[in-house]
Amino acid sequence: MKKNKIFIACDSTSIFKIKKIIRETENSKLKIGYKFGLEFLNSKYGRKFISKLKNKITFGDYKISDIPNTCVSAIKAVKDLNLNYLTIHINSGLEALKSAKKASGKTKLIGVTVLTSLDNKSLKEIGFNKKVKTIVLQQAKLASRAKLDAVVCSAQEVNIVKKVFKKEIITPGIRFNSKMNDQKRVLTPKQAYKNGSDWLVIGRPITKGNIRNNLKNLIDHLS
Ligand code: C5P
Repeated sequence: MKKNKIFIACDSTSIFKIKKIIRETENSKLKIGYKFGLEFLNSKYGRKFISKLKNKITFGDYKISDIPNTCVSAIKAVKDLNLNYLTIHINSGLEALKSAKKASGKTKLIGVTVLTSLDNKSLKEIGFNKKVKTIVLQQAKLASRAKLDAVVCSAQEVNIVKKVFKKEIITPGIRFNSKMNDQKRVLTPKQAYKNGSDWLVIGRPITKGNIRNNLKNLIDHLS
């Protein structure tokens, strides 16, 4: 049987903690990749650590959002990390996405739609009058036009995204306990895979507390 795929969000500035996360999440039941976000990427030794990682699926969650020239330059600047995946905000615009895709080469470029920490109310607050689902659909179409390799959305929108985007779908905002933290659009791992997510992104529900126990609970939940 095919293994379920999970990116573990390695959100810490501590190399010690990151090493512990990697060590304690290695297992034979799941296919694991490691996602490094703004916290670790901007920490003093984060970048160097990633540059030395061997035989791991790596995901640089840079969430680039800028003018086309800067997006391209930033992607070129991290080429030496040989990342498997890297993120850009789709709201950078079509021109930026197309240029970024050209620059990313072997690294799969992931388009990020509306953050899973936002809901319809939060969108209104920042001046968007359309609903989350409408914007996510529109952005997924744009990702498709720019020939991106993957899209990030909440697991609640996978059905919609699938209609217009035919490559990998990656979903954060996954919860299998009652702690929502700052996430708004959440689903359980089971529901997310059922909806058709290719990869889940899970951070705190695994990395906070006892990592091995958390992972065991996740595997139990999935079986
Ligand atoms: O701890 P938690 O499971 O909420 O972590 C989710 C991870 O996914 C975080 O690293 C966050 O930056 C990232 N992410 C997200 N929503 C997006 C894109 C990325 O939560 N739309």
